[in-house]
Amino acid sequence: MKRIRVIDLLKETKVGQEVCAKGWVRSKRGNKAVNFIALNDGSTILNIQIVVDVAKFDEELLKKITTGACLRVVGELVASQGQGQSVEIIAKDIEIYGEADVNEYPLQKKGHSLEFLREIGHLRPRTNTFSAVLRMRHAMAFAIHQYFNDRGFCYMHTPLITASDCEGAGQMFQVSTLDLNNVPKLEDGKVDFSKDFFGKAASLTVSGQLEGELGALALGAIYTFGPTFRAENSNTPRHLAEFWMIEPEVAFNEITENMDLAEDFLKYLIRYALENCKDDLEFLNKMWDKELIERLNFVVNNDFVRLSYTEGIKILEEAVANGQKFEFPISWGTDLQSEHERYLVEKHFKRPVILIDYPKEIKAFYMKMNEDGKTVRAMDVLFPKIGEIIGGSERENDYEKLKSRIEELGIPMKDMWWYLDTRRFGSAPHAGFGLGFERLMLFVTGMSNIRDVIPFPRTPKNAEF
Ligand code: 4AD
Ligand code: MG
Repeated sequence: MKRIRVIDLLKETKVGQEVCAKGWVRSKRGNKAVNFIALNDGSTILNIQIVVDVAKFDEELLKKITTGACLRVVGELVASQGQGQSVEIIAKDIEIYGEADVNEYPLQKKGHSLEFLREIGHLRPRTNTFSAVLRMRHAMAFAIHQYFNDRGFCYMHTPLITASDCEGAGQMFQVSTLDLNNVPKLEDGKVDFSKDFFGKAASLTVSGQLEGELGALALGAIYTFGPTFRAENSNTPRHLAEFWMIEPEVAFNEITENMDLAEDFLKYLIRYALENCKDDLEFLNKMWDKELIERLNFVVNNDFVRLSYTEGIKILEEAVANGQKFEFPISWGTDLQSEHERYLVEKHFKRPVILIDYPKEIKAFYMKMNEDGKTVRAMDVLFPKIGEIIGGSERENDYEKLKSRIEELGIPMKDMWWYLDTRRFGSAPHAGFGLGFERLMLFVTGMSNIRDVIPFPRTPKNAEF
């Protein structure tokens, strides 16, 4: 008999018919005469209730039906007598695929802490919270492709292994096949990378942007969507060593169009979540963040504030003068910490903020220089509860200016010739940005730790599962 998914059973089109459901037991309750099993198969946050007439089943079999066990159930789908569900299955036949020993299965009682669940990352997708997060993660990934496809962007696969440091922050994981116990050395004692797999030092990418720009200057509009890797030693609720990034890059876009694209894109994704992830959102709203749905609606329905870094600093300095306390000092030239970003967003403007025109010293080499010679056309989108969700810029398209910036920062020219070539041949204004996928997931799920919105988080000292 063909299995019907729980999400489809709950559509109530099969009432009065014999159906087959398969899934994992969330809970079992009842009395000597009748048992109620809540069965979940991951297709929805909702369970299907199985009603078991105890007299009709083997006692030993019913004993083995405990939380976490996997079952196949055949029975009639009927309108439910009880409250809390519209339909239920009156069990006729139950087969146990896999038992889950009550004394050993760790997901017994409700209300495990998120910290504990991280320790059992192999089982946590079976909880309501993580299945909701994972379904929403899928929905957001799908919506991202939908958004760009509908607008004529080309999905470009940029390499994960690279020899260039896009952000220039030196946080790269090295990729090597050299024997770490016997590394070949040059006469000066440095590692002889010519003996390595690629014949030179290679790393995991921190961003697909540089290669993405090559695509944009040929195809017009591209986006990348893949994993990126950063060996920054920051143990914060917003940083991962392996995270996913979406990076659109568009020829002929300048900074204003870049801001328009970022705002429209974010609003589209959040609206998509509101329209397509209702059950999961309602669950997460109830469980973890009572203002979640309200916050999502607010962001969709309000313009983002657009502001220069210099104006942002003024506001922060005034706040400090008026008694606002920050852990990190703030003045023109310093990078904003997440506490500063969140002050602007949550306290001052009470809505998302796009900050532009940052001092060149605190931003990457590829950003377009402004007329003032001090600031660059950078763009950070700051969100409530998150801080920076997007980082991007208009790119320097002038060959000489870009070259002198690369020299100023001491970036090895031999690694950058191909990037500079795009400014030698048919250069064009262009702009793009990177959206941190897990930061987006934090925002749309209302979770507060980035480790809880990716199936298997990679953080300093942690690569379990
Ligand atoms: O601001 P970032 O470093 O920008 C870039 O990498 C550019 N090359 C993007 C571009 O213009 N194409 O990173 C972009 C976003 C951040 O705003 C943040 O959302 C996320 O990536 N991000 C991280 N997310 C999780 N863990 C980390 N360690 C992250 N570092 C950055
Ligand atoms: Mg950034």
